[in-house]
Amino acid sequence: MAMGTLPASLLFIVVVLSSLLPSAIEGHNITSILHKLPEYSVYNSLLTKTKVAEEVNSRSPLTVLVLPNGPMTSFASSHHRIFPALQNSLRLLVLLDYFDPQKLYDLPGGTTLSATLYQATGTASGDNGFVNITDLGGGRVAFGSAASGSKVSSVYTKSIRQIPQSISVLEISSPIVFPGLLDGPSSADVNLTALLEKSGCRTFAFLLSSSGMIKELQAAMEKGLTLFAPNDEAFKAKGVTDLSALSNADLVTLLQYHAIEAYIPINSLKAARRPIATMASGGPGNYELTTSFEGNDVTIHTGVDSSRIVSTILDETPVCILTVDRVLLPAELFGMALSPAPIPVVMSPSPSPTARSQDSSKAPSVAAESPQHTSVPTPAVSPKIGAQRDDDKSGVGKAVSTWVVTAVVAAASWPLF
Ligand SMILES: *[C@@H]1O[C@H](CO)[C@@H](O)[C@H](O)[C@H]1NC(C)=O
Ligand SMILES: *[C@@H]1O[C@H](CO)[C@@H](O)[C@H](O)[C@H]1NC(C)=O
Ligand SMILES: *[C@@H]1O[C@H](CO)[C@@H](O)[C@H](O)[C@H]1NC(C)=O
Repeated sequence: MAMGTLPASLLFIVVVLSSLLPSAIEGHNITSILHKLPEYSVYNSLLTKTKVAEEVNSRSPLTVLVLPNGPMTSFASSHHRIFPALQNSLRLLVLLDYFDPQKLYDLPGGTTLSATLYQATGTASGDNGFVNITDLGGGRVAFGSAASGSKVSSVYTKSIRQIPQSISVLEISSPIVFPGLLDGPSSADVNLTALLEKSGCRTFAFLLSSSGMIKELQAAMEKGLTLFAPNDEAFKAKGVTDLSALSNADLVTLLQYHAIEAYIPINSLKAARRPIATMASGGPGNYELTTSFEGNDVTIHTGVDSSRIVSTILDETPVCILTVDRVLLPAELFGMALSPAPIPVVMSPSPSPTARSQDSSKAPSVAAESPQHTSVPTPAVSPKIGAQRDDDKSGVGKAVSTWVVTAVVAAASWPLF
């Protein structure tokens, strides 16, 4: 008898534990919950793009109201230019309470209000951050904004997934909106040049304008952009290669290497485990970045050099603009430090003629193939590539200021695109 009951109670414990453990250990992951359901793929990809998925995954209990692809597509396409509004619209669909279907039908008095992730941002005014849930009778439960003048007409259609007391995922028929939700400025309205100049990144702003890159970035700001703007000090630092040796095309590539076509705020940069593609990726060469952090300090690694994030200029989805203390030198253009052989300390003073003439594409390959040669045109600057990073400041500093003037003058004379 005892032999029969013991395994049974053990089995019971195992069953209970195994139903508790996954959520207890892993938490929930809304992206993977919806991943297997193609009918919600638009909603799911917008959750990821706007980073609202991370907010969902970091909290419980929650109820996530999901729209199928049809209504989600028409909603998002009519409002995609106003990114923060889309983000808040998604936050309004995440209730900070657990409602499974049973609870929806058992609401005391047939109606209740629930706070949402939008309310949790602290930016919602009045009742805008709350959702009204009302049992309409006849088996119909509807959701709507609690703000006055809103309709409670988004109907609960089916249950998608429940992890008890953690997350309930329900399908609803239409978006929840309140008057004014979809208004508001687009971050694309920001003048990037002016913002960079104001933030101590005048040289970078100048290079972006003179190369024509600014237009590309300004356009990217509508959809998602992370920009690492080297401050003016960074352009004076030792270890920076002479940028005037670069062709126009390579200068643009270098500038593109400072930009990512996605919104990646500092916390996401910290969490990044894999190399991050930049705007320069996609052609020949990887042009990727990696990150590391210590406490709140985030460092960016290019393979050649490291650069610390100094400050945030703008962090407003979908745009994150950060200043860094060094120019990011991609290995594909400045690959000397990657050479496994020790770099000779003695630098050849003879600059390559191909590098000197601003003939396209030659200079970087010279630099990459023969690490003992500097392809730097100005002798005063030549000794500092890679090998001199730890030398004394004084001499190099002077050389570099000469170089900055040279680069800026040269940049000014380069043709616009
Ligand atoms: C959540 O799931 C997605 C897709 O399955 C995965 O790519 C992502 O890394 C997961 N997120 C976390 C925080 O585990
Ligand atoms: C929700 O909205 C309905 C219809 O507008 C209203 O009758 C009800 O009182 C509201 N519920 C709460 C809790 O405010
Ligand atoms: C942006 O700011 C820059 C520098 O302040 C200015 O020269 C430029 O005209 C501005 N662009 C627009 C579109 O306002």
